[in-house]
Order: sequence, then structure tokens, then C-alpha cells
Amino acid sequence: MTEPGAVGVTDEPEAPTNRPDSEHRLRQWLRRPYVRAIVILTLILSLVMLPLGWLIVAAMNGTGGPASPVMSSIQLTIIVLTVAAVPITAFVFAVMLYSLFGWRHVRGEQVPKDDSPAIRTNTIGVVLWTAVSSALAVFFVAWGLVALAQITANSYGTLPANEQPQDLDPLIVNVTGQQWVWTFEYPQHDRVTSDVLYLPVDRPVYFNVTSKDVIHNFWAVELGVKIDANPGAVTQTGVTPNKVGTFNLRCAELCGMHHAYMQTRIQVMPQQDFTSWVREMGGGRTA
Ligand code: CUA
Repeated sequence: MTEPGAVGVTDEPEAPTNRPDSEHRLRQWLRRPYVRAIVILTLILSLVMLPLGWLIVAAMNGTGGPASPVMSSIQLTIIVLTVAAVPITAFVFAVMLYSLFGWRHVRGEQVPKDDSPAIRTNTIGVVLWTAVSSALAVFFVAWGLVALAQITANSYGTLPANEQPQDLDPLIVNVTGQQWVWTFEYPQHDRVTSDVLYLPVDRPVYFNVTSKDVIHNFWAVELGVKIDANPGAVTQTGVTPNKVGTFNLRCAELCGMHHAYMQTRIQVMPQQDFTSWVREMGGGRTA
């Protein structure tokens, strides 16, 4: 067969000199009935699956999200990666479906007769296949890294609250998980506490998250915030809610019998309403 070193020097050294060129053989191969069937099936399945990216995000937004730039960024990533994965998934399904149903007439070990050349070592075929797969892989990695960097920046990284950029005048909330409730403390407002997470809109919030017993996970669903609550340690994250409304807060770490019920509300409100709420609760400084 082909010597590894010979690839690229000449087009398939084992081929007789009167062999048709790569492009011609590729065209002939593409005319095979099963190749055509798989290409058509791939296109049809792609069209059917294309709305998936939108459908998944629409389902996520059934509860009023996205309510922060981080969540919007996460959803854009879901849409782009789903759409990019659609043709690949469609191709795999097309090959599978054709293999299941397209060869039903073939009996025993009888191999279907076909005189057109194989494209196993076809230069154009190999180059295209390698280039497209590599480009896709690079795109997925690059998109993932950029999106991750943006999300980390928008959630103010994992810096302790007192080391985070103060020019943003953040609201600080100390979050404590315990079996099976959440408590929110506002240290800038005379340590007012609440079992509902009240937040002003369009102002950065830093969360200092911890636990009194086992590991929980603080998940502000529509805000796109999710971080472990560990006993004996404080984890930091943050977000800027950009939509007024009522959202969901859940525990996202199996933490015992009532894990599924360890949930509460997030109330994102205009700044003056938040200030009134703090005053009602007996909180001092209105930031
Ligand atoms: Cu707390 Cu699950």
C-alpha cells in the first residue's frame, strides 16, 4: 500500500499512470447511489435539527431569563455550538440509518458490486476531510476559551469580595446554605438577612458563598450563576442582573433528603424599591 513518506509527493504512487485524477475519481464516487442517499439524508436531517439550538434556549427562557449578560453569553454559546454540531450529528445519523435500512436487500456475505473507485486515498478527499475536521475542532476550542473568559470576567472572577474592583460599587451578599434552606445576609446594610434573594437591577453583586453543614451548590438559574457552597470555606462569584423580575434559586448539589426542595426566589427590582425593602427590614446605609 501507500508509503507514508510518499503522500503529497505524488498523488497515490501505487496508481497506474493512466489513472484518472483525484477530482474525477471523487466525482465518480459521489455518484454512487449510497453516497448520494447519505448526502441527501444528511441535508434533510440537518434542516430538521437546525431549530434545536433555538428550541433548547427557548425552553431555558420559559422562566423569564436570561436575566444577566453572563446568562446571555451562555445561551449564545449553546446556540452556536448546537448549530455547529448539527451537520456532524446529521451525517452520523444518515450513515446509521442508511446502514440499517439501505442494505436490507443484501443477503449473507455478498458484497454489493460497485466499479467506481474508492476514495480512501483520494488526495482531495483526504485534504478536505482533515481540513474541515481540524477547522471545526479549532473553532470549538477557540469559542469555548473566549466565552469562558467573558463569563469569568462578567462574574468578577473568583476574587475575594474585598479584592474585586471597587469602582463598580458592588452590592455584597453573604450566601449560606444549610440542610435545606438558603440565607442571604447584606453586610453593607446592618447585616439584614432574608430567605429570598432581593437584588437591585443593573448593579454588580458579589456573592460570598458558604455552607453550615454539607456541600450545597448556589444556583441562580436565570442569572447564570452556579458555584459550590462548601462548609468551612468561602467561594466567591458575582453577576450584574439586567432584568427586573422573579427568578429561581436552587441547590445544584445532592445534599440529603430534601435537596430537591432547597429552593427559593430571586427578586430583581429597581434600585429605589431595593432601598425601600432594605429600610423596611431595618437596614442602615442605603447604597
Ligand atoms: Cu443543598 Cu442540595
